[in-house]
This record gives sequence, C-alpha cells and structure tokens, in this order.
Amino acid sequence: MNAEELYNRLNKVQPGAVLCHYTREKCESMIPLINEINELKIKNDTVILAHAYCAPEIILGVADYSGDSYKLSEDATKVTQKNILFSAVKFMGETAKILNPDKNVIIPGPLTGCSLADSITAKEVRALREKYPGHTFVCYINTTAEVKAACDVCVTSGNVMKIVENLPTDKILFLPDRLMGQNIIDEMKKRGVKKEIVLHSGACYVHKTYDPELIQFFRSQNPGLKVICHPECEPEVALLSDFVGSTGQMVPYIRDLPAGTPVLLLTECGLVARMQYEYPDKRFIGSCSMCKYMKSNSLENILEALQHPEKAPKVELSEDVRVAAKKCIDAMFHYASL
Ligand code: 13P
Ligand code: SF4
Repeated sequence: MNAEELYNRLNKVQPGAVLCHYTREKCESMIPLINEINELKIKNDTVILAHAYCAPEIILGVADYSGDSYKLSEDATKVTQKNILFSAVKFMGETAKILNPDKNVIIPGPLTGCSLADSITAKEVRALREKYPGHTFVCYINTTAEVKAACDVCVTSGNVMKIVENLPTDKILFLPDRLMGQNIIDEMKKRGVKKEIVLHSGACYVHKTYDPELIQFFRSQNPGLKVICHPECEPEVALLSDFVGSTGQMVPYIRDLPAGTPVLLLTECGLVARMQYEYPDKRFIGSCSMCKYMKSNSLENILEALQHPEKAPKVELSEDVRVAAKKCIDAMFHYASL
C-alpha cells in the first residue's frame, strides 16, 4: 500500500477528533510503520486481529481480520500462525486464548481494561451464586475469563436474545451489563417470554452516554434518519432506534440501506469511521464516542510488540480457568444453535 491509496480510502472519514483526522501528510507518515508491521508479522509468524473499534489505520493497514470480538476469536482458530496479536482489550484476548490454548496471544495497547469486564470479579459472582442458588448465571462476553469460569452460559450482543429465550430455566441472573439486561427484559416482554431476570450494576462508559434527546434532535433535523444502536445503550435509546444489534449485525444493516440515507450510528466511533469509508454512499451523522481502551492500541505499539515480542504483554490463563470458561462458551454455542 502507498500513501495515495491509504489517503483515497481514509479521506472520507469525517474528523471527529484529532485521532480521526486523516491528512495526506498523516497518511504518508503512517506508511513506513504499516509496511514494517506487515513485514514483521510474516517474519514473526503472527496474525493480527483488530476489533471494529480500533483506529481505521490499524484495520485498513495491518489487520488480517477485523470484526466483532467473538468472530475474531473464532477466526483465530482457523489460522496457522503461532502468534496472535490482538488489537483490542484484555477480555477479548482472553477469549482468543480460551479458544486457542496453543497460541501466544498478545495485546499491544497499554489500557487493556473495559468498564463492563472490570465491573465484576469472580469472587463477587460466587457471592451472588450463594444469594441466588436457583438462578442460571448468564454472562456477557465482556467479562474476564475468571468470571466466565464462574458462570453457566456466555452470550454476545448478537445472540443474547435468542439464548435467553432458549434457556430451559425461568430464573436468570444476567451480568454485568445493567442496560443490556434491561433491554433483554424489554425484549422478552415483547416476545411474550416470562422469565425472572436479576441484573448486576455494570455499564459501558461509552454507550451509556447516548440519550433520547440526542435522537429526537437529529430526527428533527434529518428526515428519513435511520438510528442504529448497540444493546449496551439505555433502553430509552434502544426504544427510539430503528435497529439494535451487535457491531457485526450493524454492518449488513447499514450496507443494505438505500444510497443517501442519513444514519445516526450510536456506538464507538471506530465503527462509524469504518462505515464512512466502506459505505460512502450513506450520510453519517456521527458519533464521536471513543473507547479509551480500544484506542490505546496504535501502529506504534503494534510495531513495538512485533519488534520485541519477549517484552509484549502475553495473555496467560491457568488451565483450570480456561477449561471452565470454555465450558461457559460451549454452552453458548449449544443454546445459540437451538
Ligand atoms: P461486540 O461484541 O459487538 O464486538 O462489542 C464489544 C464491545 O465492547 C461493545 O462495546
Ligand atoms: Fe468495554 Fe465499552 Fe470499550 Fe466496549 S466500548 S470495550 S464495552 S468500555
């Protein structure tokens, strides 16, 4: 790839922050890094996975696979490389390690947290189990491996409604996302499914910021506006949206909208940037909400991790935790396939 090709793709991204402002000069300065990373990853037998929320130059310039967190971990089971460099956050690296125990998994960014995964520990789950002994513990994929190991079934934002509906139990404890949990309760009511669902108190600090007034304002300004949100948003936001889905489900929905459709995409701005260069025929209003954890991955720290793999932070899991967490993920496959 040369600077002109990169610029021709990225100049459609609307500058929402200094990170997303692509000038020709900026593209020129990134090309040596991109080329060095692409040479080193082959030399080091490394595959690069990048979550949809990462900076566009990572997804476009160096990633072998990009997409939502679960799809990427699955992609990793099909590659021959020994090393996985996962431009994402720690719980995603752990999911990749759970499914690919023989591979080395490294996360290049220094901020590997997630406000959802960090909102509950395995010890807290065990205490909740004592309080709710008859409940099936359903955890969102945005949890640590230890928390998954202490739960019964894992879900993603793409399969959560189907799995909760399919579970052969009417008592569920859903964790850690309170807002997604409230969206599940609302959806089950709509579907006429009777379940008692107890919630934990976590929330995504990026998605909880959207509010109904924002939607009403943009609707009044943009006739025909399509509003798309992630199920980590407030229930009032989900209610006012035309489509609620995972990052993976949003992409085909946007692709299939008629050319010229105004779109308000209420999720992390990395996905908005990608949609702007992939579907320039749509008219994107926003958003500019940035996840500091995802955006702490950069071309610079990816290169550093490839140059000094011995110093790069590896995802390590005890075999007990890995096997128990895998059971929780396998239960997800089972209920999602019913
Ligand atoms: P996906 O599972 O849709 O990739 O979302 C992960 C996430 O962190 C959303 O905030
Ligand atoms: Fe976690 Fe929210 Fe960032 Fe997703 S966007 S990784 S849920 S903090």
